[in-house]
Amino acid sequence: MRISVVGCGYLGAVHAVGMAELGHEVVGVDVDESKIALLNSGEAPFYEPGLPELLKDALATGRLSFTTDISAVKGAAVHFVAVGTPQRKGSNAADLTYVDAAVDALAPHLSAGDIVVGKSTVPVGTAARLAERVTASAPGAVLAWNPEFLREGLAVQDTLSPDRLVYGVPSGETGVAAASALDKIYAVALAKKTPRIITDYATAELVKVSANAFLATKISFINAMAEVCEATGADVTQLADAIGHDARIGRRFLNAGLGFGGGCLPKDIRAFMARADELGVDQALSFLSDVDDINLRRRTRMVELAREVCGGELAGKRIAVLGLAFKPNSDDVRDSPALDVATQLMREGAVVVATDPEAIETSRRLVPDLTLVPTPEEAAKGADAVLLLTEWQQYRELDPRALGYIVSTKAILDGRNCLAPAEWRSAGWTYRALGRP
Ligand code: UGA
Repeated sequence: MRISVVGCGYLGAVHAVGMAELGHEVVGVDVDESKIALLNSGEAPFYEPGLPELLKDALATGRLSFTTDISAVKGAAVHFVAVGTPQRKGSNAADLTYVDAAVDALAPHLSAGDIVVGKSTVPVGTAARLAERVTASAPGAVLAWNPEFLREGLAVQDTLSPDRLVYGVPSGETGVAAASALDKIYAVALAKKTPRIITDYATAELVKVSANAFLATKISFINAMAEVCEATGADVTQLADAIGHDARIGRRFLNAGLGFGGGCLPKDIRAFMARADELGVDQALSFLSDVDDINLRRRTRMVELAREVCGGELAGKRIAVLGLAFKPNSDDVRDSPALDVATQLMREGAVVVATDPEAIETSRRLVPDLTLVPTPEEAAKGADAVLLLTEWQQYRELDPRALGYIVSTKAILDGRNCLAPAEWRSAGWTYRALGRP
């Protein structure tokens, strides 16, 4: 099928490449010229494992191209909207400027029978509003909402083999037409018996935000248990293993530590609360405010732990920060717990030297005065404390003995509960973690 993808960020770029890989003819559109130039030259504008290879392959087939010219969408039958919905400045609500602008930009180029497919995460009610806009400006065009559940770091796999497909479509014939176009696009996944749920706009929009709200709640639940563990000498990692054996609970997303960050979970739970407030059901989601607070408290707790191991005073202390991305296998530092802790430590007067395998440049853009070095060894040189804040595989594998020769004081703070405490302690380190004795 001929497809356009409007917005070529973490979501749109991967979607465009993935759809071309599935055999479709795809044009990706973005207003950012440098991003488009990079994509056209076969370079991914962000770090995502597997994407550069797939991008080069797809460009070579001639089925994929990128442009800043929105009129290039003409002739495509399906138009995906994959632009960002960041948190609005000074409010919890989502900023829908980019979604509205994308739909308005598309409208003049649509023909009757074209399908506009929303992928961005939006407050419930947005699709209904946009559907009116689409039909008013392009009679005969249809809007569908098809939320995306990809995880950064696994985005290629999640795009090519999603665990479910959700179509929010209008009732009647137009809805049937939209669903059958989406079926053609996702034919490969459907042939593999991927579950598909066809529903209304509101349910499709809510599936997305409630899934993220549930994941955030699961993480904050175990982090709340970590707080109780800290007060009682219990071990939250063993607790998670034990409760996780109950299939009804499950062990996944029960990793206690510095908590969640990134461009999705934090802003999505806030936007969800803001929308619930507008709908008069704020009480139903008031627990999400605790989920947010528990999450942010873990960052403060990490700063306090650092102060403790530094003898009660952070000013002038040299602190090595290993990991800045919001999670491993990503260069994304949007609302990153690690970068937040590094910044808080700097504010307290600590001399922070930070590193990350992929997120040096993205961190520099957000926090230009943070000292950044390429390797953990350089970061650890003369350190009074080493903080592991993003669990990259290479940091999990650090040798405590070798690192012991580099630091000034052997104190390690495991912000992601990903190291073996006994190994570090037997190498003479003070090992501290969140929710662990
Ligand atoms: C999340 C969802 O998992 C995706 O399903 C969704 O499509 C995406 O948001 C989105 O809305 O676009 P992502 O932001 O890539 O994906 O990251 P996650 O893997 O969910 O991790 C989020 C944060 O939670 C990370 O900071 C991670 O370190 C933290 N986390 C995760 C924990 O602290 N503990 C865990 O057990 C799991």
